[in-house]
Amino acid sequence: MLRSRIIGTGSYAPKRAVTNLDIAKLVETSDEWITTRTGIKERRLADGETVSDMASKAGKAALKAAGVSAKDIDLIVVGTVTPEMNFPSTACFVQAALGAKPGAGAFDVSAACSGFLYALDAADKYLRSGSCKRALVIGVDVFSRLVDWSDRSTCVLFGDGAGAVVLSAEKSSHGVLSSHIHSDGRQWEMLYAAGAVKSNPFEKRQDGPGYLKMNGNETFKIAVRTMGSAITEALEASGLAPGDISLLIPHQANMRIINAISERLKLPEDRVYMNLEKYGNTSAGSIPLALDEAVADGRVEAGDIILFVAFGGGLTWASAAVRW
Ligand code: ACO
Repeated sequence: MLRSRIIGTGSYAPKRAVTNLDIAKLVETSDEWITTRTGIKERRLADGETVSDMASKAGKAALKAAGVSAKDIDLIVVGTVTPEMNFPSTACFVQAALGAKPGAGAFDVSAACSGFLYALDAADKYLRSGSCKRALVIGVDVFSRLVDWSDRSTCVLFGDGAGAVVLSAEKSSHGVLSSHIHSDGRQWEMLYAAGAVKSNPFEKRQDGPGYLKMNGNETFKIAVRTMGSAITEALEASGLAPGDISLLIPHQANMRIINAISERLKLPEDRVYMNLEKYGNTSAGSIPLALDEAVADGRVEAGDIILFVAFGGGLTWASAAVRW
């Protein structure tokens, strides 16, 4: 059976680390509040870097790990909601920066924190249909340029980061076993950033504030519920049970959300990957950044069942099961 195998991973996080104590100098908060409510200790913030710089560095590392030249990539899909321009897509910038094959397909996917899994889902379908052989899938976001740094209820949560995988279409029992994406646009106001759209001189609409807005409490509950159901869906579609999961790599939004999901599944701590204490919520960057660190830490071995699950603005949610 033709499957998409992950043959290389890479990631990039900006060098500048900003601790909870640094943020406590900006807004009325404390290391104690942020740590106990979220698990986050510090985050990396972009310092003059563009989103495509970050995506390209992660992509380059993934190509190197896969031993694949950029010229062998047929398709580049980037999950991001913080592109540096409305167009061209970040994927086109990455294509140029990496010297990838001119003529390869390149596009962005907008699904906030679910962006990487949406991008993976799309690429997987191109590969399994036989229309592409090798894809570079990247998740990247620069939320530090989207949050209101005077709003303590959101600015403490986010950081900047990127991660990437190289997918190869192979006849194999290893690779992506199942992948699902979901959304519910009725609930868009739970979490959004109005962005750069401006009125034209002939209309009366008001330009809204561009900052990220979030109903944290409701988002928390919906995240636990939807990620729980997405995991069940991935397991059932792959003929697996919770006990088969070697490593769950969830979207790194909040330690308490991840703990609630792990408890429901009765997964021991060593089967759940968390690195949010170092990076905060990096949106679409979060899952591939965690995957790359898990691979580097030796937490992923051939034959392991890796389960990815994400949740984000849209609302969107998604899951994928992979046999490594
Ligand atoms: N420091 C100190 N106090 C704070 C802070 C802060 N940074 N932020 C809020 N507070 C206060 C509030 O004002 C409130 O005070 P009050 O009781 O006097 O009114 C109190 O702390 C409790 O606030 P809650 O919002 O109830 O705190 P909660 O325990 O729910 O934690 C949090 C808030 C961390 C935002 C949590 O709701 C959460 O993680 N929600 C989900 C976020 C998420 O996963 N988002 C998905 C993002 S994905 C994407 O697509 C971007």
